[in-house]
Amino acid sequence: MDHFNSAHDAVVKLRPDVPLAVNRPHRVRAAARWFLDEFEGDILYAVKANPSRWVLEALWQEGVRHFDVASVAECALVRGLFPTATLAFMHPVKSRAAIRQAYFDYGCRTFALDSLEELQKILDETQGADDLTLIVRLGVSNADANLKLEAKFGVAGDEAVTLLRRARAATQEDLGVSFHVGSQCMNPNAWRAALQQASRLIVQAGVTVDVVDVGGGFPSIYPGMTPPPMQHFLDEIHRVFDAMPVTMNCRLWAEPGRALVAEATSIVVKVDLRKGDALYINDGAYGNLFDATHVHWQYPVALIRPDRTGSAKLADFRFYGPTCDSLDAAKGPFVLPSDIDEGDWIEIGMLGAYGVAMATQFNGYGERIDVVAEDAPHASMFPKNLDQDAGPACLAQA
Ligand SMILES: Cc1ncc(COP(=O)(O)O)c(C=O)c1O
Repeated sequence: MDHFNSAHDAVVKLRPDVPLAVNRPHRVRAAARWFLDEFEGDILYAVKANPSRWVLEALWQEGVRHFDVASVAECALVRGLFPTATLAFMHPVKSRAAIRQAYFDYGCRTFALDSLEELQKILDETQGADDLTLIVRLGVSNADANLKLEAKFGVAGDEAVTLLRRARAATQEDLGVSFHVGSQCMNPNAWRAALQQASRLIVQAGVTVDVVDVGGGFPSIYPGMTPPPMQHFLDEIHRVFDAMPVTMNCRLWAEPGRALVAEATSIVVKVDLRKGDALYINDGAYGNLFDATHVHWQYPVALIRPDRTGSAKLADFRFYGPTCDSLDAAKGPFVLPSDIDEGDWIEIGMLGAYGVAMATQFNGYGERIDVVAEDAPHASMFPKNLDQDAGPACLAQA
């Protein structure tokens, strides 16, 4: 990837006609360093948030050694880059072939599950292995999350008690519990409630637990969504974990995806046409703007116009993506100079998580240029400078 000082410099030099991903590995490293320093346990990066090689390499350079994978392709990707990485297959429903390949081909020893049937599949396909770590995924409230994940996975109540007992009996290694409070969760109390629920189930089941995995869900900053400082989330988790009915040596895990990568990438799009307040841009629902279009998240935007400045007067705009599908639309509103027009570029920030990861080739689109930039992201949950004392996380609006 070519290097530039800033997204602006990259546009001036490249004048891109296809979406430009402006990647900031220094922000992935800063987020990783913060989590590794502050979290009293292991950090498993949720690869699905952004599986780009530069992301995985930045995390590895900073010391992340554990990866939450959800498919055989993610196992192959991480194992191919880092032969000594620890893989944890945290998808609670896997094909039999995926379990076999993860265990025998990629050395994965940790598997999540939320049903007796999945437990049996794992035991069958690993052929009596005596080195399995089994993680029971509990169903917890997602009330404080902006993207809810609770409908699909997680076991609760008596079923959870039975599954914990059966999983405990099935492994000679470790038994764990996990949950996901939902993505972009804005309230540290969500983790407290989930950990307390886990504690009650552990006591009811009467099992020893060696791993408590608090999942992902840690937030980033988007317009209209400014979470409390990240330290508050970790403080709450540490406080409740310390009082849990688990073994002395019980390990604490977290699987952040969004929080490690969101701020690190901007997508620069070009305006192909303006019709009133609608800007027809060259990226959208089937490209790198999934959440902006499908769930109408707002993202920070900035005009990039190399030759002259934009109007000081601002106006609300909505976007249409490049495909022929009417769903390929983002209602925003996106606040931009009122004279924005065809040929201008827009930097859309905070798209490092679930941005490039979601892109398809639909309708013949999908081409993208990737570059590296040294500038600051639109906003940050972490200290500006890697060398700076980690201290309490800052909410720096750049
Ligand atoms: C099992 C699991 N862990 C972690 C994550 C990462 O979540 P987030 O990006 O909200 O941190 C996800 C996201 O879907 C997930 O399904």
